[in-house]
Amino acid sequence: MIDSERQERLIAEAIHSRENAISRRSGFAVGAAIEAEDGRIFGGCNVENSTYGLTVCAERVAIWKALSEGVRKFRAVAVVTGADAPTPPCGACRQILWEFAGDVPVVSATVSGKRKLYRMADLLPEPFEL
Ligand code: THU
Repeated sequence: MIDSERQERLIAEAIHSRENAISRRSGFAVGAAIEAEDGRIFGGCNVENSTYGLTVCAERVAIWKALSEGVRKFRAVAVVTGADAPTPPCGACRQILWEFAGDVPVVSATVSGKRKLYRMADLLPEPFEL
């Protein structure tokens, strides 16, 4: 469960991180934010480079930042894009979010104010786990 106040706080952080997106190759800037169990929020933006294929999505940047600070328990994720409708995380990010954050709520928002709430278990049914 994530109440609307926490959702909006997480979305605001994702919007802030989106300002740092390095996305001139695709023109698609993304911001993400992940909330740790202790309430701390870690933001991330997509980072593209000249090889294209080494691009890292905003969601993974956010969770790498948190994991590298020692955080291991998470409560929620937010993603913000400039698309017409809210978009869920890509397949690679679903795998990583599932493995490290588990069945958390994922709120996707557009800069125009649309919202959609997902759960990781619905986004990644039958996950690969070792
Ligand atoms: N991207 C993200 O950062 N997160 C998503 O959820 C979807 C895609 C980025 C990758 C690439 O830089 C750009 O958006 C276009 O795919």
